[in-house]
Amino acid sequence: MAAEPLLEVDGLEVVVRRPGGVVERPVRGVSLSLAAGERVGLVGASGSGKSLTLLAILGLAPEPAAIAGGRVRLAGVDAARVPRFRGGEVGLVLQEAGSALNPVLSVGAQLQETIEAHGVARGVAARRRAAELLAEAALEDAGPLLDAFPHQLSGGQAQRVMIALALAGNPRVLLADEPTTALDAVTRAQILELLVRITDERGLALLLVSHDLGLIARLVHRVLVLDAGRVVESGDTDALLRDPAHPATRRLVEAANRLGGGGRA
Ligand SMILES: Nc1ncnc2c1ncn2[C@@H]1O[C@H](COP(=O)(O)OP(=O)(O)OP(=O)(O)O)[C@@H](O)[C@H]1O
Ligand SMILES: [Mg+2]
Repeated sequence: MAAEPLLEVDGLEVVVRRPGGVVERPVRGVSLSLAAGERVGLVGASGSGKSLTLLAILGLAPEPAAIAGGRVRLAGVDAARVPRFRGGEVGLVLQEAGSALNPVLSVGAQLQETIEAHGVARGVAARRRAAELLAEAALEDAGPLLDAFPHQLSGGQAQRVMIALALAGNPRVLLADEPTTALDAVTRAQILELLVRITDERGLALLLVSHDLGLIARLVHRVLVLDAGRVVESGDTDALLRDPAHPATRRLVEAANRLGGGGRA
């Protein structure tokens, strides 16, 4: 390993206790690490535990799920002791921007609130910063957009606003749940390319979740394959696509080839 790990996740466990004493384990001992400037894909079939893994890295597990074990460190420091870990040092871009944004606050107010909450800037300066972040997320006409409400945004615009929000706390790591729903293929590709550009420019570590290996294959340096809550295979993207070892990986590679999604040769 060349670079020092920036984000280290070790043995992450999420459990769900169902009525009647049944315990499900949607995330089973997931370990991974990301270096600054590194883009890693987390792929797996629907329900394999990708979204829960991202949330659990941030210390979140919506009920009835609960975190049952594991360690998360940022630059060697336990996440619980890192000030502004969640939403600050580590930004989250969710799968469904529409429902993640606050419907009763304008785009500008949400950005300003986040910027101020993280002590990045205040008042007029925070408002200016909000416009800059929208521009960084490739939203033209940031002025009018600052006053827009989430329901007035297109799916692609909402996703870009989510990215701007994730950047508002000056993160070192971005966790992104692929914006699959409601976006057309062209917009989806643009959003993914935007994420890559921003993480490159800022030197961020990116953990990019997708169930479509073909879609993200060209965008990430490494891929981890999740199956039923476990990392079953990991490695260099090209090698993995060429010679998948695990059946779960093979299924993803076959699906990618069938759809021709990533446009790979
Ligand atoms: N808050 C929760 N409480 C209980 N079970 C959950 C919760 N969230 C997800 N699950 C279950 O855990 C498993 C993993 O879900 P998760 O949302 O992480 O899948 P995913 O890999 O992100 O799938 P997709 O590609 O469809 O988004 C699924 O069986 C799901 O039903
Ligand atoms: Mg998901």
